[in-house]
Amino acid sequence: MIVLQGLSKSFSGVKVLDDLNIEFGEKQITVVMGRSGGGKSVMLKHIIGLMKPDSGKVLIGGIDINALKKKELNEIRKKFGMVFQDGALLDSLTVFENVAFPLRQHMKHSEKEIEDKVYSILADVGLNGQYNKMPSEISGGMRKRVGVARALILNPEIMLFDEPTTGLDPVMSDVINNLIISMHNKFKFTGIIISHDISGAFKTGDIIAMLYEGKIIESGTPEKFQNSSNPVVKQFISGTMEGPILI
Ligand SMILES: Nc1ncnc2c1ncn2[C@@H]1O[C@H](COP(=O)(O)OP(=O)(O)OP(=O)(O)O)[C@@H](O)[C@H]1O
Ligand SMILES: [Mg+2]
Repeated sequence: MIVLQGLSKSFSGVKVLDDLNIEFGEKQITVVMGRSGGGKSVMLKHIIGLMKPDSGKVLIGGIDINALKKKELNEIRKKFGMVFQDGALLDSLTVFENVAFPLRQHMKHSEKEIEDKVYSILADVGLNGQYNKMPSEISGGMRKRVGVARALILNPEIMLFDEPTTGLDPVMSDVINNLIISMHNKFKFTGIIISHDISGAFKTGDIIAMLYEGKIIESGTPEKFQNSSNPVVKQFISGTMEGPILI
């Protein structure tokens, strides 16, 4: 469904993605791990066409998205729901209006339809009764859930999560990981999760991949990943400073 082929991208002469290749399986959840500043968010931005590669291709359902006209790219983008790293909620809008926002933007729904959909998805993510709160009045974990609800509201085929558990305590991280699993079971999207949360990755991912020095250096089932003989992967999983990873 989503294929990155030989993707390269540099900023000011520094290579962030370097001939990166990966395929994301349809209806699977793939977790991509990697170091801070390693290019994970840059990779996601290429997948939704917010950034263009210096070379290589992003294929969505066999279509090279960088060969598309703006209007065609906008059509493809409707397949995506994105949960941004910082939540990206609109601070001046209530929880309800944040979640309703894509519906008001993309489609012509009656107010009643919008209400039904927003109430239903907010119940799915466990935010019953929080409709009229402002983003500043709710906790970090709740803001993440609002972000998930907003990304899901158009029932996308593909969900991208940029570090959905970063900044949350271990218990709330587990709540969010379980929410992703239950939403995946319900909506059956193709999921790509960027994460540093090793135990969460093993729990949520059908496939775990590691991005290092601009390339995917390992990818496979949680079992395969955990038993990787690659010293970089081993060091990352064990979380020690001794090893081949340059600090
Ligand atoms: N628009 C941009 N212009 C210039 N440099 C950029 C831009 N976006 C990202 N970079 C650089 O690309 C590198 C990778 O950034 P990226 O945000 O993808 O890292 P990341 O793996 O998501 O890290 P983190 O885990 O901290 O979120 C960084 O050095 C960053 O400064
Ligand atoms: Mg990032």
